[in-house]
Amino acid sequence: MLPYYYVALIVKTTRIIAITNQKGGEGKTTTAINLAFGLAKRDKRTLLVDMDPQANTTGLFANPDNLEKTMYNVFSQSTPIQEAIIETDEKNLWVAPSKITLAEVESMGQNVDAPYILRDALHALKDFDYIIIDCPPSLSIFTINALVAATHVVVPAQAEKFSIDGMTGLQTTINSIKRRINPDLEVAGALVTQIKAKTVLTKTILPVVSQFFRVFDSTVSAGVAIGESHLARKSIFDYAPDSKQSKEYSDFLEELLRELEA
Ligand SMILES: Nc1ncnc2c1ncn2[C@@H]1O[C@H](COP(=O)(O)OP(=O)(O)OP(=O)(O)O)[C@@H](O)[C@H]1O
Ligand SMILES: [Mg+2]
Repeated sequence: MLPYYYVALIVKTTRIIAITNQKGGEGKTTTAINLAFGLAKRDKRTLLVDMDPQANTTGLFANPDNLEKTMYNVFSQSTPIQEAIIETDEKNLWVAPSKITLAEVESMGQNVDAPYILRDALHALKDFDYIIIDCPPSLSIFTINALVAATHVVVPAQAEKFSIDGMTGLQTTINSIKRRINPDLEVAGALVTQIKAKTVLTKTILPVVSQFFRVFDSTVSAGVAIGESHLARKSIFDYAPDSKQSKEYSDFLEELLRELEA
């Protein structure tokens, strides 16, 4: 009798996670950076894409002014994203950097191809387990590109200042993109960040945010270690491994992985 051969079809799926909230200062960049470092430290090959002309994420790894090729070139000159990607000192972590010139291509919103540029660019990349996209504080063409390219969305929401209007606008945009362009897009959840008092969370934030998005059980409290880690150009795991925020971002990452890899 012929032996049975089991053919294992290994289809590699890259999870693409957009970190989005059109309000400023909600913790997008902090979450994108620490999520990316956390994944890399768990042996996931990770690309961190900076879609914000402010280039805060990029600044952690390089001086944006010294970079010859960035997401600006990918958007304005169809430069392959591989030419812009830079290595980092962290094993398993690469960055697709941005710089202020990216703002110049914002007006290309009228171009019919405009929403698809990032999706097409990322399609050429086969080697990553995770791609994390840091978005700007607006529902600009860059955020649209991120939502069109993404498989999942994480919405950081600052505990003390979250805005119902902001949540409504984001939810409407996500739903339109799901309906028209990217039906597989899933909101992984909202991550409440910068919490100063737990009572604010349970009494005022959770009831409101959960009307819009699933809210992660994990939350991130406010603490000076976060600002210090940015100044030190390190992840919270490297800068202050014993801090509360390091534990909280690690818990968030585990919760997200349980959800995505279930
Ligand atoms: N958990 C935290 N505790 C204390 N400070 C924090 C925390 N998370 C973020 N911050 C600080 O809040 C500010 C805004 O955070 P961050 O840059 O991550 O937000 P953002 O949503 O990316 O902002 P923008 O919309 O401008 O891109 C930063 O100065 C950051 O250091
Ligand atoms: Mg930011």
